[in-house]
Amino acid sequence: MSSFDPNGRVAVVTGASSGIGAALARELAARGARVALVARRRDRLEAVAAEIEASGGAASTYVCDVASATDVGATHRSIAGALGPVEYLVNAAGYVRHVLFADHAAEDIERMMRTNYLGTVTWIQAVLPAMQAAGRGGIVNVSSFAGVAPQPDEAAYSATKAAVTALSEALSYEVDRDGIHVMAVHPLLVRTEMFTPEVMARMPKGSEKRFISPEAFAKETLRAFERGERSAIVPRSYRGVLWLRALSPRRMAGLMARVKLRGLGGE
Ligand SMILES: NC(=O)c1ccc[n+]([C@@H]2O[C@H](COP(=O)([O-])OP(=O)(O)OC[C@H]3O[C@@H](n4cnc5c(N)ncnc54)[C@H](OP(=O)(O)O)[C@@H]3O)[C@@H](O)[C@H]2O)c1
Repeated sequence: MSSFDPNGRVAVVTGASSGIGAALARELAARGARVALVARRRDRLEAVAAEIEASGGAASTYVCDVASATDVGATHRSIAGALGPVEYLVNAAGYVRHVLFADHAAEDIERMMRTNYLGTVTWIQAVLPAMQAAGRGGIVNVSSFAGVAPQPDEAAYSATKAAVTALSEALSYEVDRDGIHVMAVHPLLVRTEMFTPEVMARMPKGSEKRFISPEAFAKETLRAFERGERSAIVPRSYRGVLWLRALSPRRMAGLMARVKLRGLGGE
């Protein structure tokens, strides 16, 4: 078990302007954390902060593009100056592109890696020294189910998330002895703005019936963190797919062709 007690502590949440990041920020604030909400859309950050404050929580907003190391450095300095050392970090900023790899522009693949992976790296490097000095801290990296079971039509995205997953596990072993707990969470089908009509048009039929809410996702994620898990699949019911992938790569390939690729180009 980790000693997870966010009450009164400073928690940075990236990607806090919507979806999963906003839900995790609300949940941390409900447990007493002083949350610093980080993303690019100021109006959306302010709306989440207002909601948290209306429920008696403490939140402040910071506009920052996580793909820019300069932005991250400056934002971290502002937060530490205003609120004190960061004790919890949630890296939820990220985006997906549903596209066959052959059609995916190289510039977007680079941008996606800078956002989903290097954004996470840069934030961790910013907060880690103070956590190590304090001898405690917690980091939750929002990877994706695609990071542990790579998905066709999301090849470059899967690679960014596999990088987040590998970093999280390796780092968790390194910083355990510093009293810092690192967990990667692997969501799938959480109802957020990520699922635009264009994305839904490329998803398997019936996907819309399987979504869970960001609130349910946030609660389950923090429960897994509290249990001291290093890696969590949320919802947990999809863990069986990982067994299928490990035990029968041929059946996994069949499933991907039948479920994920049917109706998309290249047939
Ligand atoms: N929903 C799912 O089922 C699912 C599944 C697997 C993984 N995920 C992961 O969960 C995370 C959150 O996604 P979501 O589903 O909650 O979608 P979302 O509602 O679209 O949220 C994405 C968040 O990331 C922020 N963001 C994107 N690029 C950014 C940048 N360069 N700098 C700072 N912030 C940035 C967005 O804020 P601004 O636009 O205001 O900057 C927004 O707050 C992502 O990492 C995503 O890959 C989600």
